[in-house]
Amino acid sequence: MQLSLKPKEGRSRGLPKRPVPELVVTRDGVQGDFNRWRTEKAAGDPDQAVLLLSEETLADLRAEGWPVQAGDIGENLTVAGLPADALGPGVRVRLGDVVLEVSKACDPCTILHTLPYVGLERGPAFLRAMAGRRGWFARVLQGGTIRSDAAVEIVGSTADGRRLVHDAEGLNTAVWPVGADRLVTPVDHFFTRSHAPIPLIDPTDWRLEVDGLVDRPRSFSLEELRGTFPRRSVTATLVCAGLRRDEFLSLGPLASELPWGPEPVSTGEWTGVALSDLLRAVGVGERARHVQFIGLDQVERQGHRFGFGGSIDLAKALGAEVLLASELNGAPLPVVHGFPIRVVVPGWIGARSVKWLGRITLAEEPSTNYFQSKAYRVQREINPLDPRDVSAGIAMSGVPLNAVILEPTQDRVVPAGRVRVRGWAMGSEGRPPTAVEVSPNAGTDWVPARIALEGEAWTWSLWEATVDLAPGGHTLVARATDGTGATQPRTLGETWNVKGYGNNAWHRVAIRAE
Ligand code: MTE
Repeated sequence: MQLSLKPKEGRSRGLPKRPVPELVVTRDGVQGDFNRWRTEKAAGDPDQAVLLLSEETLADLRAEGWPVQAGDIGENLTVAGLPADALGPGVRVRLGDVVLEVSKACDPCTILHTLPYVGLERGPAFLRAMAGRRGWFARVLQGGTIRSDAAVEIVGSTADGRRLVHDAEGLNTAVWPVGADRLVTPVDHFFTRSHAPIPLIDPTDWRLEVDGLVDRPRSFSLEELRGTFPRRSVTATLVCAGLRRDEFLSLGPLASELPWGPEPVSTGEWTGVALSDLLRAVGVGERARHVQFIGLDQVERQGHRFGFGGSIDLAKALGAEVLLASELNGAPLPVVHGFPIRVVVPGWIGARSVKWLGRITLAEEPSTNYFQSKAYRVQREINPLDPRDVSAGIAMSGVPLNAVILEPTQDRVVPAGRVRVRGWAMGSEGRPPTAVEVSPNAGTDWVPARIALEGEAWTWSLWEATVDLAPGGHTLVARATDGTGATQPRTLGETWNVKGYGNNAWHRVAIRAE
């Protein structure tokens, strides 16, 4: 790593900077450095304290014929061994004792023509070459002295996150960290959970069959569905039953289950037609108690191929919030999320929101589909004859009350002092959380969180709290209460079940303050 600095000398410009053996950085910037832009134009903006660049970027520029040396383009830190594409807003970099957080890109400025090998004539060409490569401004989370031989490592990111992929086919993915400052999840940040390859459906051939205990069984084309029933929208948070399953692993292995952390949760604005409108149109038979759904994907389980399915009880199905959705966030439903039509069952585990819907059957009994009768069931005792069997468990319906810490994330290093904790909370069956509390010390003391963004009936709400942390290790905990007085189990043992579903124990996140 090269460290570079340029003291203020008369009316001289801020670059090139010269190599120095060490840099002292504070939240006010690099001590002794003439960062003209920052001091004169940006009013000492702490987000522009340090400029850093990957050595890889300079190597690329040299390969393109620009003999750029470390420090030439004004960066204070030219870091080798850090891939250029690893840097971006929110990425936290530890350099010895110092921790920086990338705040924003630095745009090329015209002063770059003062470099001896650029000059006025070649200035525009150099600016073009530099576009998007001028480096990154960073704020200082932990100040100190950086030496040129300091170990450099990325210690996480508060940014919009990276997509984690949980299987070889890329069917089960989610972005982590989940953004803590928006109620609706952009489509490209939505989690995806599919049990089989995604079926490609020609919308002109697609038909929805409605049969079973109905007065007038019927088949609908997409146009008929849209033409017959009013357009309805609901904003709803989809929570995968496997959310926070990885915490159970501390109690023992969970064979063949995806080790989801707190990432498979997303909120969408869903638009389509109400299931209740359709059910009234076909006439609900007197004996009907359950509404079963089957998707057009082909899952293989226990030697059989069948469409993913599940059911909801009739009372829920008649709720105005349950949709047959054809749009997500104002655009046609993406293929991966169930194009052309999926069910959206707000407040219930994601598994009941069947994608690529092909058939609706009304029946006296719940669905016998594998995903209703043999999976997505909470069973707390292991069947000694078949340890993975949960058919004796309870079929899951509503997601349990939960409060999840999104920020800071596990193992994060934060500056000691006042630390902002952010997260989401959601009650069961559309009940809003009435209180969210955060403990700075593993559950001994609690402070109330404030709702920063209040959700709608079927969505999460986003909360934040401030805690005071002395230097050292800390376990942050969050818990919520809803309007019925229900709260969350304190320990994982209380909520453990054979397939690791519906974890809503107090959410604990271990971090370090320095
Ligand atoms: N529908 C079908 N047809 N096939 C599936 O595998 N997965 C379910 C549900 N609907 C699934 C499905 C599960 S377990 C979840 S959590 C949600 O879809 C995920 O929806 P998403 O991929 O749009 O986020």
